[in-house]
Amino acid sequence: MKKFIQALPKVELHLHIEGTLEPELMFELAKRNNVDIPFQSIEEVRQAYSFHNLQSFLDIYYQGANVLIKEQDFFDITWAYLLRCQEDNVLHTEIFFDPQTHTARGIAFDTVVNGIHRALAKGSDELGISSKLIMCFLRHLDEKSAFETLSQAKPHKDKIIGVGLDSTEIGHPVGKFERVFNEAINQGFLTVAHAGEEGPASNIRDALDLLKVARIDHGVSCSEDNILLDQLIAQRIPLTVCPLSNIKLKVFDQMEQHNIVDLLLKGVCVTINSDDPAYFGGYMTDNFIAVTDAHPMEKAQVAQFTINAIEASFISDEEKERLVNITQTYLDQS
Ligand code: ADE
Ligand code: ZN
Repeated sequence: MKKFIQALPKVELHLHIEGTLEPELMFELAKRNNVDIPFQSIEEVRQAYSFHNLQSFLDIYYQGANVLIKEQDFFDITWAYLLRCQEDNVLHTEIFFDPQTHTARGIAFDTVVNGIHRALAKGSDELGISSKLIMCFLRHLDEKSAFETLSQAKPHKDKIIGVGLDSTEIGHPVGKFERVFNEAINQGFLTVAHAGEEGPASNIRDALDLLKVARIDHGVSCSEDNILLDQLIAQRIPLTVCPLSNIKLKVFDQMEQHNIVDLLLKGVCVTINSDDPAYFGGYMTDNFIAVTDAHPMEKAQVAQFTINAIEASFISDEEKERLVNITQTYLDQS
């Protein structure tokens, strides 16, 4: 099964580029940019990556992002992630970035987006990995800041396919962002949102109703609400689930208790993703292996995660058909 998973074609739909900052690169960039970090060694960083909930992770994650200053830094972090994609046979990836984490520190929006985009273009040319870029608003900040971010994105509309919503879920209802999401939709952006990670199923309903999202990031609390579950199944509303993240942030105590396989078997369009792999101990292959170790499955069921992700992605119908064919051929030959 591990061999099958390693070479299985994969599509990632929930990945925060700031969450791919490995401690080695953090030290390198801290040195290059003369930024102080509160760690003496790589081991110390890894020890600090022990979290008891989402907020305890976010505090460390925003601190880590301080070493990202120049366009080349954003290029380097993105390129390092794409090389991991190549190792894991990820054929297509849809990447989040958090502009406000950087603009709040005086880094220009252009610096961030140009560095990431340059790496994605090289990834397409040299590695054959296709990609889309989604900018997230931070839900702990206010509506005004989200509107400012949306206006900064205007000159980069050709590089950004959609807007999302991330950061602290509890205490920050999605309603605060209804107007800015409406404006983003009017400008032609697609929408997604984190919901139902730590928060209740009603947050998923609100994201669907108020933000008109094409898919839900996480969404694992949908199991609490059978009517919502029926809606997700009937309308094929995708969930971008992040199994190792959910264990590290104590959404579930153990992978055996995770509901992703139950949701798959019920017919929900669930997908496997790595979220913030440098912080949660694994990229795509690691997430697939962790799920199948805890929940014995057939190869065709495992491949269904990729088929679902292709369906849920923002690529063209022709490209979807091409990726489904690659995946089906792989499955048939395994
Ligand atoms: N930002 C980065 N990772 C996140 C997560 N898992 N939930 C909310 N915001 C995030
Ligand atoms: Zn996330």
